[in-house]
Amino acid sequence: MEKLLNILKQNRGSFVSGEVLAKSAGITRAGIWKQIEQLRKFGYRIDSAPRKGYCLREAVPVLHPFELKENLKTLVFGRKIYYRREVDSTNNWARVAASQGEAEGAVFIAGSQTKGKGRLGRGWVSAPGLGLWFSLIIRPRISPAELPVITILTAVAAAQAIKETTGIQVQIKWPNDLVFNGRKLGGILGELNGEVDLVHFLILGVGINVNHQTGDFPAGLEKKAISLKMIAGDGEISGNDLLREFLKIFEKAYFSLFNKAIGDFIEYASYHSATLGKRVSINQGERIYQGTALTLESDGSLRIKEDTGRITVVHSCEIIETVSQHY
Ligand code: BTN
Repeated sequence: MEKLLNILKQNRGSFVSGEVLAKSAGITRAGIWKQIEQLRKFGYRIDSAPRKGYCLREAVPVLHPFELKENLKTLVFGRKIYYRREVDSTNNWARVAASQGEAEGAVFIAGSQTKGKGRLGRGWVSAPGLGLWFSLIIRPRISPAELPVITILTAVAAAQAIKETTGIQVQIKWPNDLVFNGRKLGGILGELNGEVDLVHFLILGVGINVNHQTGDFPAGLEKKAISLKMIAGDGEISGNDLLREFLKIFEKAYFSLFNKAIGDFIEYASYHSATLGKRVSINQGERIYQGTALTLESDGSLRIKEDTGRITVVHSCEIIETVSQHY
């Protein structure tokens, strides 16, 4: 299909006969017709006319591995990209693939999720075609205790990719929410497969609201959630560009982790933090307490000054006044 698409792209706006396409792509006329149908299902606008053939219309931002692979400059992340129009959850899909041996760096993208998952057992609203819903497989050779920083790095990579592709500066709400003016723009869900001291693999699920309009969010989320398009105003934002940039930055951050050189990323997360300096309410199950968030530590934990004056380092918990995109 990639061959056919490339020929159509080279002739964008002009008709190419079925015969020429079949010859150049090395498939039968019937095969061409089938592949054209599939490309249309992915969202490509292809006209057909008797005796003229097929014509790929103007560029539409189709989120698809074909598009993503163009100009992808990573070594590991995104070398394998899978796409489905609909899945229950890209994290589930990636987990099954990873258990069957899929390599580090594989990316699983869905047009929509019927059972998108958020943190703490919540759901995640992932409407068709409006957002970037994807998961990555990583197989880091570190202990599970060292993992929290990876979700921070993921949030930083997402924030930087958004800035690079749209000019929008989002904030990171510890540990891994992306927010803009206090409204939730995206989130990260890390799911571990491993033992007490051994990581088999980690699935990193990333959800970013891209092209939603206000009415696209379900009631209850309208005032809490936001999309890049709502911030940027008009124009469609390309999920391909955003994901390609994310993979590039994430790969750099991930490699830096093993060279013990993530200082810049932690600094970025601190500088663009929606949490530091703010009052927070921490729920650690057996203990709920209030305080002020002081600093982000190099291992991804949060240093807090409790109202009692005690200094605590929080590794994983929930900050109660969180805005969210959960149902
Ligand atoms: C959160 O903020 O609670 C995390 C949300 C993570 C959502 C993404 S969308 C892609 C991936 N697949 C899922 O089922 N969840 C994550």
